[in-house]
Amino acid sequence: MKCFGRIAVGILVSLALAGCNGSPSFLAPSGPVARKQSDLFWISHAFSVPAFLIIAGLLFYNLIRFRKRVGQDRPLQEIKHATRIETIYTVVPLILVLVMFVLTIGYMEATAEPEAKNDELTIRVIGNRWYWEFEYPDYQFVTPDEFHVPINTDIHLIVDSVDVIHSFWVPQLAGKMDAIPGETNEMWFRATETGEYLGYCAEFCGIQHALMRNRLFVDTPEDFQAWVSLMRQPPPQPQTDLQRQGYDLITAGVCANCHTLGTKQDSRLLGPDLAHFSAHTTMVGAANPLNEANLRRWLLDTNDMKPGNLMQIIPLTPQEVDALVAYLLMEELTGGPAPETQSTNP
Ligand code: CUA
Repeated sequence: MKCFGRIAVGILVSLALAGCNGSPSFLAPSGPVARKQSDLFWISHAFSVPAFLIIAGLLFYNLIRFRKRVGQDRPLQEIKHATRIETIYTVVPLILVLVMFVLTIGYMEATAEPEAKNDELTIRVIGNRWYWEFEYPDYQFVTPDEFHVPINTDIHLIVDSVDVIHSFWVPQLAGKMDAIPGETNEMWFRATETGEYLGYCAEFCGIQHALMRNRLFVDTPEDFQAWVSLMRQPPPQPQTDLQRQGYDLITAGVCANCHTLGTKQDSRLLGPDLAHFSAHTTMVGAANPLNEANLRRWLLDTNDMKPGNLMQIIPLTPQEVDALVAYLLMEELTGGPAPETQSTNP
């Protein structure tokens, strides 16, 4: 009985957490693909919830109505055959399953491709342990963690991975898509509302799976073009000696073993490109707000923020940390949240 109590509490807590404000839900769609998918969810529940209630109701009714009473010793009555009941509980579920099957196929067809069939923007999405990378072939740049798209545009995603199987998911825009090394999967979505959307990795891929997130910004066409032109600019040139030292560390020092600065060509290279780093609002798998305090914490001990990460542990001197912070944040921060750090171990 204790065990049932615990399970009940667990279910209640999960339900309460699932309803937390701000948690992205595919039931709050912001585009046609997610909208169709949530429609299908509701339709299937319109069948399955009444079915569950009827079956569970009958079960409990019979459990109580025909329970063994004290002092009553009724012999078991064996029922051998009941054609009518057997026909009902065979045919009704069969019809329900067939209806759901046909509906699901219809919705899969309807969401497979945009109606107009003109992909206006193609983005390559590359899974890495443990961050997402977004490559814009039309504009020739690649950026980690966060990506932008213009509103009301068909976005064609080519999803791929460089190491293990990940799964790309922005719940409010479209369903999940596996990112499989050596194979490309394709999906599309269209966003009909501007704003910021949280995304996840939805396939267990190692120790930092839960913090392999992404952020999608749906912009007006003007904002999107402004972001693209910033990303296409060469990385900023250092203005002070300290910034110069940071720049040299990234382009020719220890960081250059894994990182690039606006020159990342091969997604198999370890480590994200650091050009226009401060144009992001988050860092380290889009799981922490980008600000100076977090950047220092990261540079001093990456395992403190992201245990088990694959960045080589090369201790930096306080002077080098200062230099990297000075360079990486020399462009104005684009509005990362307040400077307090976010817990990385929920
Ligand atoms: Cu990548 Cu889970």
